[in-house]
Amino acid sequence: MAFPDIRMRRMRKTERLRGLACETKLDPGDFIYPLFVCPGKGVKNEISSMPGCYQMSADRIAEECEEIDSLGIPGVILFGIPKSKDAVGSEGYAADGVVPTAIRRIRDRVPGLLIIADVCMCEYTDHGHCGIIKDGGVDNDSTLELLAQASLCYAEAGADVVAPSDMMDGRVARIRKVLDESGKGDTVILSYAVKYASAFYGPFREAAESAPQFGDRRAYQMDPPNVREALREAALDVDEGADMIMVKPALPYLDVLHRVKQASPVPVGAYNVSGEFSMIHAAAARGWLDLKKASHESLISIKRAGADFILTYFAKDVARDLRS
Ligand code: PBG
Repeated sequence: MAFPDIRMRRMRKTERLRGLACETKLDPGDFIYPLFVCPGKGVKNEISSMPGCYQMSADRIAEECEEIDSLGIPGVILFGIPKSKDAVGSEGYAADGVVPTAIRRIRDRVPGLLIIADVCMCEYTDHGHCGIIKDGGVDNDSTLELLAQASLCYAEAGADVVAPSDMMDGRVARIRKVLDESGKGDTVILSYAVKYASAFYGPFREAAESAPQFGDRRAYQMDPPNVREALREAALDVDEGADMIMVKPALPYLDVLHRVKQASPVPVGAYNVSGEFSMIHAAAARGWLDLKKASHESLISIKRAGADFILTYFAKDVARDLRS
C-alpha cells in the first residue's frame, strides 16, 4: 500500500492522536541536576553564562535540593569550587572540603535524594588540569591515586555514586578497588567513559573556575571525530567495573550515544553540557528561539538517541513544565 491509501498526516491531526503515536516521553525521573558548591554560608552567586544556575554554599545547596526533590528529580551531581587550589588538588580529597560538606548537608535535609559526586582534579588544581603535571603533561598513573582518594572521601561523606570525569586510563578499576577495600562496596561508579575534548564546556569552566591555565585537554579527553574509540572506552570501563557509563557532550554526539547504548550492558547517561544549555538561553534572550520548546526538543532528542538518564541544567525548568 502507498499513497493515497496511506496518509501519514492522519495520525498527526490532533493532540490526542499524536499522543497515542508518541514514541519517546520526557520524565523528570530521568533527570540529574548539576550543582556547583562553593565555600561559605548563605552564598548564591548567579553564573553569568548560565542563566538560572548558581555557585552556592552547602547550606543553600541543601535548600535547593528540597526543591529538586519535590519536582520529582531523583538526584544531583556535585561540582566543587574549593577555597584554595594547589598543584595536587588537595581540597579535592579533604574530608572537610566543599563537596563532602555539601553531601552531609544534603543527606541531613533530603535523605532520599540520590547524591552523585563528580570526581576530577581540574577544579582543585592551580593549573586547572585534571591530574598531576609531569613533564608538561598530565601523568596518568600518579593521578589515579588522587582520584581514588577523592572517590573514597565522597563515599565516606555519604555519596551514593561517584562519577570520575578525568579520562585517566584505569581509574575505574582503581576506584573500585579502593572503595571495596574500605568498606564502601555499595558505592556506585558512574563513569564518564566517553568524554570528548569539547568546546561546549566553556560556560562550565566559568562556573567551576576550572579552565586549564596552559594548553588544553586534548591529550586526555577524546578526539571529536572518533566513534569506534568511544565503543572501546565504554567497553573498557564496563570491564573495570563501572555500574553506569556516560556520553558527554550529548547533542553534538547523538550518533555516539546511540551506538554506545546499543553495545552497552549497563545504563547509559548523557550529559547535556553547559554550552548546549547556554546556546539555547543566548538565542532565546535575543528572541531567536523559544526557550521552552528548544529545551524540550533537546532533551527528547537525547532520550530518543538512547539515553537512560540525562544530566541537564534544564532539569528543574523542564520538570516544572511537565507538571503544569
Ligand atoms: C571536569 C568536568 C567538566 C565538565 C564536567 N566535568 C569540564 C571539563 O572537562 O573541562 C563539563 C560539564 C559542562 O560543560 O556542563 N573535568
